[in-house]
Amino acid sequence: MLDMSDAPNDPRKASLQKPEAQIFLSSLTPDILAKFKTCYVNADVQSAHAKEVLSYILKNSPIMQIVSKDTTSAHTFEYLYLRKDIESPLDKYFPNGRAAQAIYQRLHALKLNLPAIIRGEREKNNSASYKIVNIGSGPSHEMIEILLENPDLKDKVHITCVDPDREALIIGAQRVARLNLESHFSFVPAKYQTFDGRGYDMVLLIGILCPLNVRLCVRVMKNVKRCLRPGGIIIFSTVQNIMGQEDPLTDYIMRLTGWNMDYKEDHEPYAIARAAGCEPIGRFFDEYGYNCMTVARIK
Ligand SMILES: C[S@@+](CC[C@H](N)C(=O)[O-])C[C@H]1O[C@@H](n2cnc3c(N)ncnc32)[C@H](O)[C@@H]1O
Repeated sequence: MLDMSDAPNDPRKASLQKPEAQIFLSSLTPDILAKFKTCYVNADVQSAHAKEVLSYILKNSPIMQIVSKDTTSAHTFEYLYLRKDIESPLDKYFPNGRAAQAIYQRLHALKLNLPAIIRGEREKNNSASYKIVNIGSGPSHEMIEILLENPDLKDKVHITCVDPDREALIIGAQRVARLNLESHFSFVPAKYQTFDGRGYDMVLLIGILCPLNVRLCVRVMKNVKRCLRPGGIIIFSTVQNIMGQEDPLTDYIMRLTGWNMDYKEDHEPYAIARAAGCEPIGRFFDEYGYNCMTVARIK
């Protein structure tokens, strides 16, 4: 096993010097801190020491408790999207880490780019209404905020939110009700595998493919594209290599809890779209370039 002092040029070691890392490290006891550093630098998530560190993190981090129960849970992101109060000293790290900030910025990138895409597609098809299905929507904060901030889209767009997590859908439905947007949203508690909606103009698949390898991403894409009308578009997000390179600390903490990202090479999102029978027509990123949103049209 490498000790920290044996790896002076390790980018992992350098990442521990960042101010946000200090927030995390200072919340550990001296014994756990020593074990964490050794496990981290060796990317060890298996040993008895790694398990001891995990157990400490789970005891002290409500956010990681959610992740360890369900790595796909949308509730983890509620802390970031809604700037929910974070009381645990250990959890105060996450909103300061770049990977977590990129999740908030992904929402921002969607809000910046989707309205123009929707307007362009509606004009092209000369259609009065535009039907979007948000698969694995969670509460669908991005679409709620888009309708709120783009009154011209409000009466033309309907969003169907599909997610097996009823609690996440209730959060969305309550927010929609508070904002008087009920007539523009439907909430369907279902998995994409069994959802039987068809004829949509757009499928959103945001934060669903991130842990899946290329082969599984293609399989999911092939499955969900059946919801689209001919010529409809799908917008899917993937996490790119740069995230693992620039924020190895968050990546390691995620891996400890069983949340394993499958980072993609630059060319892979387009390759996924093509292998699923779609033609990529563009892409956009969050500010750090960690999340790639690919826009593809079904053939
Ligand atoms: C990481 S969250 C992303 C939520 C939201 N799209 C966002 O960007 O904030 C993944 C979501 O996928 C949902 N999910 C998990 N398995 C699913 C399935 N088989 N079909 C549809 N949604 C699923 C989870 O319940 C969760 O809400």
